[in-house]
Amino acid sequence: MTPSIERILYTEDQIRARIAEVGREISHRFRGRPLKLVTVLKGGVFFLTALAQAIEIPVKVDFLAISSFAGHNPGLVRISKDLDDPIEGEDLLLVEDIVDTGLTSRYLLRTLAARGPNSLAICTLLDRTSRRLVQVPVEFRCFEIDDAFVVGFGLDYKQLFRNRTDLVVIRRDNSEARGQ
Ligand code: IMP
Repeated sequence: MTPSIERILYTEDQIRARIAEVGREISHRFRGRPLKLVTVLKGGVFFLTALAQAIEIPVKVDFLAISSFAGHNPGLVRISKDLDDPIEGEDLLLVEDIVDTGLTSRYLLRTLAARGPNSLAICTLLDRTSRRLVQVPVEFRCFEIDDAFVVGFGLDYKQLFRNRTDLVVIRRDNSEARGQ
């Protein structure tokens, strides 16, 4: 059954205004340095697109995909589609839809760091620090949120709702686990 919308967390205008601010911050931080934005398919694509357009310096983009080992530890993931190009010597921004427990981001940071980028930082649309299990350095964040399950702007529930232009809280069965 498709879950119902409980409340709107952020409207499209609020999201785009905040992304514009963060985009300016990133532009100042990396001015004069070629920046590469990297995100995880599929959820991160929506935020990456909006963020890239809010950044005032030229950027490159690249994508990877991960899959989790169902039934195993949460956060135990592997790369199912790798980046197209090497990242050695590059300034890299890992663009996340949400950092929740931090396990996925930690895995990605470690994997990418091993490839020798010049710098590596995280920019996330949503940050839910209350559920963090491992510490990860989040340099840029649009919104800090509480423990409600959120969809829209790339975030999904069973692959649905990614195309919503706002961020909303849905009502769903508590027994259901958070998925990719
Ligand atoms: P983490 O490894 O626990 O930080 O989880 C990160 C991933 O869990 C995100 O990239 C999302 O795919 C998923 N996730 C966590 N919370 C939510 C949510 O509220 N809505 C949709 N997806 C979520």
